[in-house]
Amino acid sequence: MKYDIPVYEPTLTGNEQKYVMDCVQSGWISGRGSYVQAFEEQFSAYTGVGKATTVSNGTVALHLALMALGIGPGDEVIVPTFTYIAPVNAIVYCGATPVFVDSREDTWQVDAEDIRRRITPKTKAIIAVHLYGHPCEMDDLVAIAKEHRLFLLEDCAEAFGTLYKGKHVGQFGDISTFSFYGNKTITTGEGGMVVTNDETLYQRSLHLKGQGLAKYREYWHDVVGYNYRMTNICGAIGLAQLERADEFITRKRQIASIYAEMLNGTGFTPHHEVGDVFHSYWMCSVLTPQVHQRDKVRDFLKQNGIETRPTFYPVHTMPMYSQKYERHAIAENIAMRGINLPSYPGLTDEQVVRVATALKEGLEHIDVMNAVKKFSLLQTTPVVKKQEYKTVSPDAKNITA
Ligand SMILES: Cc1ncc(COP(=O)(O)O)c(C=O)c1O
Repeated sequence: MKYDIPVYEPTLTGNEQKYVMDCVQSGWISGRGSYVQAFEEQFSAYTGVGKATTVSNGTVALHLALMALGIGPGDEVIVPTFTYIAPVNAIVYCGATPVFVDSREDTWQVDAEDIRRRITPKTKAIIAVHLYGHPCEMDDLVAIAKEHRLFLLEDCAEAFGTLYKGKHVGQFGDISTFSFYGNKTITTGEGGMVVTNDETLYQRSLHLKGQGLAKYREYWHDVVGYNYRMTNICGAIGLAQLERADEFITRKRQIASIYAEMLNGTGFTPHHEVGDVFHSYWMCSVLTPQVHQRDKVRDFLKQNGIETRPTFYPVHTMPMYSQKYERHAIAENIAMRGINLPSYPGLTDEQVVRVATALKEGLEHIDVMNAVKKFSLLQTTPVVKKQEYKTVSPDAKNITA
């Protein structure tokens, strides 16, 4: 279905075309080249993390980061159940076990108290997933990791440009990852980045992403490695996107504030900044007042040409991760009430107003439909008097109900 207002679309109107043409004309189109290098250097400067290495997507970035940390069979890794699936799968790719934790009601991010409850002697790492552009409570997570001598991995796929207490996410963990999928704040089509301040973790990441090639001899591989490289073409797009990152984030925050203002007092709860944080609003998301309203509101928007997405399903409820019965009440509730709204920087104010208006009308429409349903039930329900009911013979021919 073609929507008038899609949930996301990339803005590729800067130097993307020029830089890509340069790759094509120069013949530097594979995993080496000046654009990959420039993108890595400027990404590291932008996020304030010492070392950055590009990869082919955000999922392999997570796999690479976990492998660099040495996570393997027998290890447990703590991860929020309310997340996109990739960090959970990456734990399993390493042969380790994901241990799910619940979320906080205010920020929707991982609940530090629940993390504490789930630490065992097998726990090796915590993955902090900064969901939808809001950061996790990093002071708590850093303290827990320190206290229990655990690795901390930040999954910043959805949080490029997000700040916690004035510092970019990605700076707090031992190692951190980003995604540049087409719907991300900056994109390379498919792509990702691993960043770290630790030279050993950086060198291990480079080694594993490049087929485990030894430094001292050509075609000599001393570990089982992977080809997780990014192409120079993607690097070229990434560099052009990075040049406009501040502009994209400023616009996304304006969009979020129009939604918030228009939805004030309507019953919707917009995802918003909690504490000393800077939300980059990868997605502008709202909660419907009640669970049953979510899909009806989404349907109403769809009928009006507006695309939305549901918030993620908690991973512990998915077939391959639900062998053990678990409840994570807050994550489950947010997951069932959440809607991601159109959130790309190219949206005009008029389009944002149209989405917010449709949301309000959608909720009113549900109320009206419920009232109509109640009223027509009252009108059509036959009133059977107790006395009459008693006299109906069990084998009467005219019973239709
Ligand atoms: C939180 C999170 N982690 C990881 C990923 C995986 O990134 P990719 O799609 O680039 O593999 C995503 C993707 O959208 C994500 O939202």
